[in-house]
Amino acid sequence: MSRTVGGPPESLRWVGDVTGQLEILDQTRLPGALEWVACRDVATVVEAIKSLRVRGAPAIGIAGGYGLAVAAGEAVHDRLLSEAARAHVLARAEELATARPTAVNLRWAVERCVAAIDHLPGDTPADALGQALLAEARAIHAEDRELCAAIGRHGAAELPAGDILTHCNTGALATGGAGTALGVITAAWDAGRRFTVFADETRPLFQGARLTAWELVERGIPVTVLVDSAAGHLLATGRIATVIVGADRITACGDTANKIGTYSLAVLAAAHGVPFYVAAPSSTFDLAIDSGVEIPIEERAAEEVLAPLGVRAAPAGAAAFNPAFDVTPARLIRGIITERGVITPVNRDTIRHMLSG
Ligand code: MRU
Repeated sequence: MSRTVGGPPESLRWVGDVTGQLEILDQTRLPGALEWVACRDVATVVEAIKSLRVRGAPAIGIAGGYGLAVAAGEAVHDRLLSEAARAHVLARAEELATARPTAVNLRWAVERCVAAIDHLPGDTPADALGQALLAEARAIHAEDRELCAAIGRHGAAELPAGDILTHCNTGALATGGAGTALGVITAAWDAGRRFTVFADETRPLFQGARLTAWELVERGIPVTVLVDSAAGHLLATGRIATVIVGADRITACGDTANKIGTYSLAVLAAAHGVPFYVAAPSSTFDLAIDSGVEIPIEERAAEEVLAPLGVRAAPAGAAAFNPAFDVTPARLIRGIITERGVITPVNRDTIRHMLSG
């Protein structure tokens, strides 16, 4: 089992050369079992992304990138000639990019890998396409590790002293490194700060209770899990100094899509005068869209709500409303912690300035 130092295992890894395989730590089985899914075809990668075996915006971007190397491996295996191999890869690229609609990192990474073979001549054989795709996916993976480390450094310096409330899972499992919001928390801890992390359980799929709590327990950082609806009461006690979350897509004006329940948390934080921070790499910004209403919101299966963790809770015949994400308006966000520094206040000018610098 390969592990990050003093923490949980990495979320995904590539094994072998261009005809090797992508291995994904199956997060649907955590924390009960550590099982790896071997992806030797694109259908398995797409299924893993859709069913949240791999999840978290940066991690699904990395999976999408490696997914294209898997596509090239299929072309090598099927002995496709150069033009057919390229057409095969491009067709799979769209399948991968659309596997989940809200996190912009997925399309960003897939398009970056496609661009890495754009300049190669038309007669480039499948294995050479695969090598270029694998190199680009590996670069995205390695860069994400660095981005997380830089976000951690900037965020740890910004975080007020005191206990922290977070939502969903934004740690090593969700990225190629230490994490975004959870990376800030662990960096602050490693710098000697002491606090308790309150983790929303994050219904309906329990990323907070299953994954964030697990990562923190593995790290020896005190964690207390609460039901999502207890957040208002917790904030009213005055115990929470900061709320910090990750992001799946941030628009040019700073409106931020993140796991369902984030918006409610931001409203509650504002009502109690608690600073609300977002931590995300620049690959999570979508400057092509201006405001949050333009972000596509993924709607997921009713069963996730009606039968949480596979246990039926609602009667047959009940319908479910199951948006996977919501949008927090920029005005509720104290700062966005990026690898380049902290954007505060959050508006079009400060975002453009930070990202173009
Ligand atoms: O549906 P998920 O589990 O992929 O949602 C993940 C989140 O909302 C995270 O907060 C976000 O991707 C940031 S991960 C560093």
